[in-house]
Amino acid sequence: MKLAPFAVLAVLAVAAAAFSAPAPVTKAVAVLQPLGSSGVSGTVTFTKAEGGVKIDARVSGLKQGAHGFHVHEFGDCTAADGTSAGGHFNPAGEPHGGPDDAKRHAGDTGNITAANDGVTTLEYVDSQISFEGPNSVLGRGVIVHANADDFKTQPTGNAGGRLACGVIGAAKAQ
Ligand code: CU
Ligand code: ZN
Repeated sequence: MKLAPFAVLAVLAVAAAAFSAPAPVTKAVAVLQPLGSSGVSGTVTFTKAEGGVKIDARVSGLKQGAHGFHVHEFGDCTAADGTSAGGHFNPAGEPHGGPDDAKRHAGDTGNITAANDGVTTLEYVDSQISFEGPNSVLGRGVIVHANADDFKTQPTGNAGGRLACGVIGAAKAQ
């Protein structure tokens, strides 16, 4: 069978569409594993939302009180103390701050506050983190700390040791 030139072009266009780039990421997940004998574990879900990315965290085993909760530079949880995840994710070279500060590390997602030693949840929309561009958190790490982030002490917020670590991976959109 002979195809007219325009028909050949149409077939090529359909074929090209079938092999185009995957859909943009709109959801990501990190599974938090305990570091050392902390007994702290959980899941963090990131979902594209109006005004940024919504964070839903569910963490168990935390002692009562506030615990620093950040996106760190590396999605590397191999070190027993979590230091392989590096410092706070800071693509713009800003000082450390709190989630509501204009000048902050992109990874400064604040504290997660446990009312008791059961399951703790955190839900908020972060204005700086993203799934694309320089602030993309895909492949970065999530760290939960022993102590509260004071949003002031440079460059760590004085949040102390690392209790749990997870790697942020692309998830199936829903
Ligand atoms: Cu941290
Ligand atoms: Zn920071």
